[in-house]
Amino acid sequence: MTEPLLEVENVDITYRMDSEDVHAVTNASFEIGANEYFGLVGESGCGKSTLAKSVIKGLDSNGEVSAGTIRYKGREIQDLSEKEYNKEIRWKEISVIPQAAMNSLNPLAKLSDQAIEIANVHTDWSAEKSVDRLKELFDIVGLPESRVTDYPHQFSGGMKQRAIIAMSLLLNPSLIIADEPTTALDVIMQDQFLKHIDGLRDERDLALLLITHDIAVVFETCDSMAVMHGGQIAEKGTTKEIFSTPRHPYTILLQQSFPDARHPDRELEVIEGSPPALREEVDYCTFASRCPWAEQECQESLPPIESMNGNDSHAVSCFRSDEMESLASEHLNTIGRPQANAIENEGYEDDD
Ligand SMILES: Nc1ncnc2c1ncn2[C@@H]1O[C@H](COP(=O)(O)OP(=O)(O)OP(=O)(O)O)[C@@H](O)[C@H]1O
Ligand SMILES: [Mg+2]
Repeated sequence: MTEPLLEVENVDITYRMDSEDVHAVTNASFEIGANEYFGLVGESGCGKSTLAKSVIKGLDSNGEVSAGTIRYKGREIQDLSEKEYNKEIRWKEISVIPQAAMNSLNPLAKLSDQAIEIANVHTDWSAEKSVDRLKELFDIVGLPESRVTDYPHQFSGGMKQRAIIAMSLLLNPSLIIADEPTTALDVIMQDQFLKHIDGLRDERDLALLLITHDIAVVFETCDSMAVMHGGQIAEKGTTKEIFSTPRHPYTILLQQSFPDARHPDRELEVIEGSPPALREEVDYCTFASRCPWAEQECQESLPPIESMNGNDSHAVSCFRSDEMESLASEHLNTIGRPQANAIENEGYEDDD
């Protein structure tokens, strides 16, 4: 197998606070191969952006990778200085469509001038070459080439999104990280955005790390995926396997909480409760307090992430993963919801 593009290995991320730390990510591992579209999905606050920021050396100043390694094309990201990262990786290798993408363009500069400036910092391209390149990319994302000299405010919301995709491709990166790129868009524009992202596969060698809370978007767009809750990776593998045979309780409930076009009448699941506060080192399953199938063990130790079928295409972090198929089908056949497990919830925040 060829070397993965991005390897995140046993990563912990801690935010230092005056009174107590926040253990935002615990023991996260995943890989993204060249040309692979990878989705990272989970509810608000589960640590998706934190993980993405650690990959681009963009953690807030109180955050640090407190364990594990992150490698891009075999190089340890933590070993690079910010200057080295900016010079060698940013834009050229990894570019980012940030969570507040609509505001990520400079409102005071024409798109063409923004492209010239980025290329000027990172390459020896002439201004003419930079603008030509942007025009090419405008063409790919379905914007008229003549609009490269517009200011961001001259674009509609959907056009702005496409301009941001074009800009992120400017220096031909191998990996794009898109953090909730569709959240601010209506359903039709979301669909268009995802079509453009999908269309890029045919145009160039590009891998995507797509971050979203919407598991249906990942199923539609990505080759493989990881599901996160409370700073932990619950389940990862090919989208196909996770879609057809989810084995982590959180994935199963999450999948049931989004509409399915094939079963429009299905009742949507609501995942009750809130995740633990992560103030102390996390040595338990962070979904246990909300899991209908949790047992004492789940509150007392961290379940290892284990392969479901002897290969890397599906791995799950749940003590009961072998039983989940039958437990879940019982659950899905039952009318109404299972009772939240009544075991003690010491050390957890009360549900709101
Ligand atoms: N600078 C910070 N200092 C302290 N805690 C932080 C900081 N940034 C994030 N956190 C906490 O870390 C956890 C993970 O946050 P993160 O932004 O990664 O979540 P997310 O999955 O991206 O959520 P969303 O879907 O809402 O964007 C949350 O509990 C958040 O409150
Ligand atoms: Mg986020």
